[in-house]
Amino acid sequence: MNSKQIAGEKACDFIQDGMIVGLGTGSTAYYMIQKLGDRVAEGLNVTGVVTSKATEKLAVERNIPLMELNDVTEIDLTIDGADEVDEEFRGVKGGGGALLFEKLVANVSKKSIWVVGEDKVVATLGAFPLPVEVVPFGYKQVERQLEARGYKPKLRHHEDGSLYLTDSQNYILDLHIGSIANPEDLNNWLNNLPGVVENGLFLNYASTIVIGFSDGKVEVRDK
Ligand code: A5P
Repeated sequence: MNSKQIAGEKACDFIQDGMIVGLGTGSTAYYMIQKLGDRVAEGLNVTGVVTSKATEKLAVERNIPLMELNDVTEIDLTIDGADEVDEEFRGVKGGGGALLFEKLVANVSKKSIWVVGEDKVVATLGAFPLPVEVVPFGYKQVERQLEARGYKPKLRHHEDGSLYLTDSQNYILDLHIGSIANPEDLNNWLNNLPGVVENGLFLNYASTIVIGFSDGKVEVRDK
C-alpha cells in the first residue's frame, strides 16, 4: 500500500452514518472515495458533495449518492488532499486544478480533514507551485502583475501541450515562488487582483491531517 492509499482509507474512519460528506479531488482523495464506495455498498447511508467533475464521475461509478452544493446548507465533513501542508495546517491545493470548487466546499464544511503522504508536510509553503485560477479575458494583465512581484507565473498546460481549463473553463497560472514568507498577506493580495477567481492557499480550513507513511504507518494530527 502506498502512503496516499494509507491516508485516504484511514480518513474514511471519520465518516459516520447520515453524514453529508465533501468529496475531495486528486490521487489521495481517490482512495478515500473507493473505500467510501465499499462502505456504501455495505449499507452506510451518506450523501456526497463533489469538488470536481472527475470526483463526480468516480462517486457515480461507486454508487455514492450525491447532492449539489447549492442544495445543502452545511457539510458535516470534507475529506480532501493537499499539495503541501505546514505545521499550522495551512496548505497549498489545486495541483489537480480543483481549487475553486474545493474551497467552496471547504468553506461550508463543519470539519475538513486533509489526507496526505508524508512528503507533503513541509516547514514552509511555496516549493510546490501555487495555482491561481484566472478568467481567460485579459489574463495576461494578471500575469504581468504577478511577474512584477517576482512570482514567476506559468500558464498551465496539459502534458500534450494543450491549454489547461478548469471545470469553470478558467485558466491556471502556477506561481513558482519557492518559499512563501507570509501566506496570509499573499492570499489577501491575490484575491484582490481583478481577474483572479481563487488561489490555492487554504489557510484556515483543515483541523485534522491524516498522514500516510511509506512504511505503512499512519498518523492522525489534530490542530
Ligand atoms: C486538486 O485540485 C488538489 O487540490 C488536490 O487536492 C491536491 O492537488 C492533492 O492531490 P493529490 O492527492 O493527487 O496529490
